Amino acid sequence: MGAEWTKSDWRAKPRVQMPDYPDATAVKGVEARLAAYPPLVFAGEARKLRRALADAAEGRAFVLQGGDCAESFAEFTADNIRDTFKVMLQMAVVLTFGAKVPVVKIGRMAGQFAKPRSAPTEVLDGVELPSYRGDIINDFAFTAEARVPDPARMLQAYTQAAASLNLLRAFSQGGYADITRVHSWTLDSTAGQQGYEQYHKLANRISDALEFMQAAGVNAETADTLHRVDFYTSHEALLLEYEEALCRIDSTTGLPVAGSGHLLWIGDRTRQPDGAHVEFLRGVQNPIGLKCGPSLTESDLLRLVERLNPKNEPGRLTLITRFGAGAVGEHLPRLVRAIEREGAKVLWVCDPMHGNTIKSASGYKTRPFDRVLREVREFFAVHEAEGTIPGGVHFEMTGQDVTECTGGVRAVTDENLADRYHTACDPRLNATQSLELAFLVAEALDQRRQAARRAAV
Ligand code: PEP
Ligand code: CO
Repeated sequence: MGAEWTKSDWRAKPRVQMPDYPDATAVKGVEARLAAYPPLVFAGEARKLRRALADAAEGRAFVLQGGDCAESFAEFTADNIRDTFKVMLQMAVVLTFGAKVPVVKIGRMAGQFAKPRSAPTEVLDGVELPSYRGDIINDFAFTAEARVPDPARMLQAYTQAAASLNLLRAFSQGGYADITRVHSWTLDSTAGQQGYEQYHKLANRISDALEFMQAAGVNAETADTLHRVDFYTSHEALLLEYEEALCRIDSTTGLPVAGSGHLLWIGDRTRQPDGAHVEFLRGVQNPIGLKCGPSLTESDLLRLVERLNPKNEPGRLTLITRFGAGAVGEHLPRLVRAIEREGAKVLWVCDPMHGNTIKSASGYKTRPFDRVLREVREFFAVHEAEGTIPGGVHFEMTGQDVTECTGGVRAVTDENLADRYHTACDPRLNATQSLELAFLVAEALDQRRQAARRAAV
């Protein structure tokens, strides 16, 4: 980080998963406009998140990262943002109760537009077209014209991200997230549903505790933190033309900062140690995530850690592991041990979504809820065995009542998938499934806490 790095150095490195725009002049025009626009997030916020992540790495906080696989231009409404935000608040309150530590809330929101793909083309009814790469790059419609990468989409993504962030800031700071409103965060679509009694029971206990605190003289007026939450944004920093154009120099530290989101991560397909994505992200001071899939070797991981966090600063690097249920025991211990041997400071977060995608009998891309759950359990078990800290979870989820992942208490079956399958990319947990998962993670956190307490006496 620092003088030897510039924000365009990535251009000299191997470029993968990024579009080849047909009109270079149009790209330059868009980049110039974005470079003149205000950043979406500010360096001080990114630094605050880094401190929170450093706490999570040591078990003094727990991370909840969640949101769409791919945000879409068509699904951009205040209701959708509000509902995902509400579900995250519900999950966070459940996790806080289990872990008894602050939950760091990070949306896959306000910038999660670009998608890496496993194949460059898609075939439908014998027609082959370039793959859809996210709304910031091309259009989902299956026509040759729609699939041409269009740089003007970066401007629309920026505008949507700005408006989303504006709403998220209002929701998180303006009284909506006030803990005394814990009962009101449930959704109309989930009213009376199985799984929600547990939430209301917990909300009642919280209300009781708040009443007690009020009687003891602590209330929302005297304790400002009850009123508001910190909510951060994150996305995969895939489209580097967009990221470079929003990169700024932070006036406080003089260091570069990515202005597109608080936390940016490197995907499992773009983490080549000498590639363009690692080159860009090593130079910005934001907290950085790194997806770790089954093909990641210990030596590559250590090279990446050295490149992305040469000063071994706490909170800088989050390793988001995604191996698939049944494969965690094979991969997580070897990576954990390599990190421990090196004394590297990292935060471990579990993404139980991306290693568990299957094709259903009906042809839909789906994720069985029990596999998602199993990967989370395996993640906790490995950290328990290795004596390291399970610091957070990363989900693809939505506040919409979709039928994209199978299973859960209100079981979505293979046959149900067609009912409300709306995702532009990967299948997401719906509100009920998300909450159910939060309770299960909270239970695991509670057990850990109780075990630590027993060990201490
Ligand atoms: C994602 O998080 O949407 C994604 C594509 O993940 P991964 O890089 O882990 O496959
Ligand atoms: Co995804």
